[in-house]
Amino acid sequence: MEKYHYRALSESDPEIYTAIRNETKRQQEGLELIASENFVSEAVLDAAGSVFTNKYAEGYPGRRYYGGCEYTDVVETLAIERAKALFGAEHVNVQPHSGSQANIAVYLSACQHGDTIMGMDLSHGGHLTHGHPLNFSGKSFKVVSYKVKKDDETIDYDQMEALANEHKPRLIICGASAYSRIIDFERIARIAHSVGALVMADIAHIAGMVAVGLHPSPVAHCDFVTTTTHKTLRGPRGGMIMCKEQFARDVDRNVFPGTQGGPLVHIIAAKAVAFKEALQPDFKSYQEQVLRNASAMANALGEEGFRIVSGGTDNHLFLLDVFSKGIIGKDAEKALEAAHITVNKNTIPFDTNPPMKASGIRIGTPAVTTRGMKEEEMRKIAGLIAEVLHAHEDPAVRQKVSTDVKTLTADFPLYASRL
Ligand SMILES: Cc1ncc(COP(=O)(O)O)c(C=O)c1O
Repeated sequence: MEKYHYRALSESDPEIYTAIRNETKRQQEGLELIASENFVSEAVLDAAGSVFTNKYAEGYPGRRYYGGCEYTDVVETLAIERAKALFGAEHVNVQPHSGSQANIAVYLSACQHGDTIMGMDLSHGGHLTHGHPLNFSGKSFKVVSYKVKKDDETIDYDQMEALANEHKPRLIICGASAYSRIIDFERIARIAHSVGALVMADIAHIAGMVAVGLHPSPVAHCDFVTTTTHKTLRGPRGGMIMCKEQFARDVDRNVFPGTQGGPLVHIIAAKAVAFKEALQPDFKSYQEQVLRNASAMANALGEEGFRIVSGGTDNHLFLLDVFSKGIIGKDAEKALEAAHITVNKNTIPFDTNPPMKASGIRIGTPAVTTRGMKEEEMRKIAGLIAEVLHAHEDPAVRQKVSTDVKTLTADFPLYASRL
C-alpha cells in the first residue's frame, strides 16, 4: 500500500502534522461509539482537502458574485442533483456550513423574531437548536417543548397535538439527537398543518437510513427538512436543507446572504462525493448492518443488566441508563474513554441528574460498522463496556480492556495508509 506522506505539512508545521498523525492513530486504536460520528472514505477526504478551499463563490450556480466559478458550479450542481436523487426533494441547498446553520436559515424562512416555535425538549432527545434557552433558537423565539411519555419513553404525539392546539406555533420542529425510535413524520406534519403551522424535520442523525428507505422519509410530508452530512450519511462535516419549491427562494436567501457568506466549496465537493457513495447499492447494506449492530449491542447490554431507554432501538443509537446501576453518565464516559471506548454522557428522559452529570450514555454504531464490524463484534464490545462499567473505579480493569480494544481494532484497519 502506498503511504500517504503529508510531505509539505510535516516539513512546514511539525506540531499540526504530529497532531494529525496522533489523531489517525487514536481513531484506528479506539472504538468510536459516538452516535453522531462516522469515518468518511478516502475519496471524501480527497475532495475536502482539495484546491476548492481557495475559492470564493458567494451566490448560487449560474448566479455568482465572483468570477472563476465555472468548476465550482459543476461541483455544487452535482451535489444538489445527487441530494435530490437521494432524498426525492423538490429543492436542495447544500451550502449550510453545519446542521445548526441549516436550522437557523429555516427558522428565518418560516418565522418572524418572537414567533412561537415548538420542538422536542433537549433532555428528552431534542437538539440545542430546537429551542434551548442558551441557543439562538431559544433566544429568538417563544419556545414550547414536547416530551416523551413517562411509561414507554416514546414521543407523546397526543401531548404534541394538545400543545399545538393551545399555543398555535408558527413552526413545529421534529427530529432528534438522542431518540432511538421511529419518528412518525406524517403524523407530526398532520398535527402542524391542522393548526396552520409549518413543519421542519431535522434528520441530522437518521439521514443515512432515510436515504435508503430504512426509516420513513419526512420529505413528502414536511415543508422543510434539514440534515447534517457527517453522521449516518457518512460525508464531510456540514449541513443541508431540503424544502418544498414554494420555500426555495426564501431558504436560499436566508442561507446567503441571510446567515452565511462564501460557501465552503471544498466541503460541497466532498458532500457531492458522499452523496454519490450513498446512491450505490452497498450503502443500503451498510445502513442495514448499522441497524443490526445497534440492536445486537443494545440486547447484549440489556443481558448484562443495564436498562435501555425505551427498551430498545429502531435506529443507529440507544441510550444506556447507567444511573440504574448507580453510575453517573459523566463517570461512565470517563471510565470508558480511559479504555479507549468513546461515548458521550447524555441525559435521559425525566433525568434526576443535571446535564453535566447525566444519568445515561449515548451509544451509536455508524462508525464501528463503517470499519466492517458486525454482530459478533458488537457482543464483544458490549462485554467490554460492561466490564469497565461494573468496575468503573478500577484502573486495572480499564487497562486490561484498552488492550482488548487494541487487539479488536487491529483486525479492522482504518486509514491504514495515513498511519
Ligand atoms: C438533530 C441535530 N440537529 C442539528 C445538529 C447540529 O449539527 P452541527 O453540529 O453540524 O451544527 C445536531 C448535531 O449533533 C443534531 O443532532
